[in-house]
Amino acid sequence: MNAPEIVPPAAAEPHVMKTYGRLPLALSHGQGCWVWDTEGRKYLDGLAGIAVNTLGHAHPKLVAALRDQIGKLIHSSNYYLVPLQEQLAARLCELAGMTNVFFCNSGLEANEAALKIARKYGHDRGIERPEVVVYQNAFHGRSIATLSATGNPKVQAGFAPLVEGFVRVPLNDATAIEGVARANRNVVAVFLEVIQGEGGIHPATVAYLREVRRICDEHGWLLMLDEVQCGMGRTGKWFAHQWAGIKPDVMPLAKGLGSGVPVGAVVCGPKAADVFGPGNHGTTFGGNPLAMRAGVETLRIMEEEGLLENAARVGALLKRGLEEGLAGVAGVTEVRGRGLMIGIELARPCGVLLGRAAEAGLMLSVTAERVIRLVPALILSDDEARRMAAILVPLIREFLAEPP
Ligand SMILES: Cc1ncc(COP(=O)(O)O)c(C=O)c1O
Repeated sequence: MNAPEIVPPAAAEPHVMKTYGRLPLALSHGQGCWVWDTEGRKYLDGLAGIAVNTLGHAHPKLVAALRDQIGKLIHSSNYYLVPLQEQLAARLCELAGMTNVFFCNSGLEANEAALKIARKYGHDRGIERPEVVVYQNAFHGRSIATLSATGNPKVQAGFAPLVEGFVRVPLNDATAIEGVARANRNVVAVFLEVIQGEGGIHPATVAYLREVRRICDEHGWLLMLDEVQCGMGRTGKWFAHQWAGIKPDVMPLAKGLGSGVPVGAVVCGPKAADVFGPGNHGTTFGGNPLAMRAGVETLRIMEEEGLLENAARVGALLKRGLEEGLAGVAGVTEVRGRGLMIGIELARPCGVLLGRAAEAGLMLSVTAERVIRLVPALILSDDEARRMAAILVPLIREFLAEPP
């Protein structure tokens, strides 16, 4: 198949720093779950800007609200009251059953703030070298602290010395974390994704999440749940941990929160809400009126349009379509995930499918080398889900029929 290959950007973009291998196409506009490239080709969007475009593209209600906000005030400063910050914070607290929010601009910034909260929480309790439990295959971002927390040697390569103060355990292994609790008196927090995203769509089990909550309570640790990718309605609840009926103490959010406008947030419960005082943390752009309006409107529209129910229902339909289409196909290891966060693990690396899917009119991503990831907008329709499976299933079958 003559699919576009991922290319280093040097040829097409000589002045852009070469941090991504890119497909040689550029998107010009979108509508709902569809996007068009500059050559006029149309794609069904199974990626949504990597779990970002919650409301799809050019949602008329969001566009109108953002136009209105841009005409009034884009940015002010955290030196003054920002009423839209309070509005978004209050809504997030209500939805999460938590109490206070710090706003920033991205997932790594939210995680960076969470890690600072954990350290200060420890220092406030007389622990001079606080440590945080983190996970194999985790992904928390690419700043020095968050890449140190990340459980992927490729992300860390070349950036030593890493930040110290992390203890790493395998996911869904309660014995391992109990062992840490027995051996290490410096631990102050546990930090995990409820569903590991970049690591290959690996969910923490309900039983494990409850057990970790219990262990955190027993030892006075903070439970910090990175919901940057799996939160904001993607799994069919506002936050993925709500399936386990637990509450974290700290919850970093980003990606889908502004439906494309950069917004990050750290939502805290009573144990963590007062750890930062004036001067402990800050940001120039974080929480600016444009970003806050995007967050407020995204939440409002999600509710108005029943997008949690939609994510759960259409996600189940899409997963079923993939499972049925791939049943018995040698080389398909597992179809997993919840709502509109779906991973299809193959028995061998399949990065080439990115280009082949684009050639066939579908946007997706491949993560952890062999996991095809679908994280479409939460407005995806039944028909679009069926089309997605109808494009993807034959591509996977064809790929797996080739000699490795
Ligand atoms: C779970 C998780 N945390 C943090 C991040 C980092 O977010 P950002 O790229 O906005 O810094 C990501 C990005 O993929 C993520 O999936």
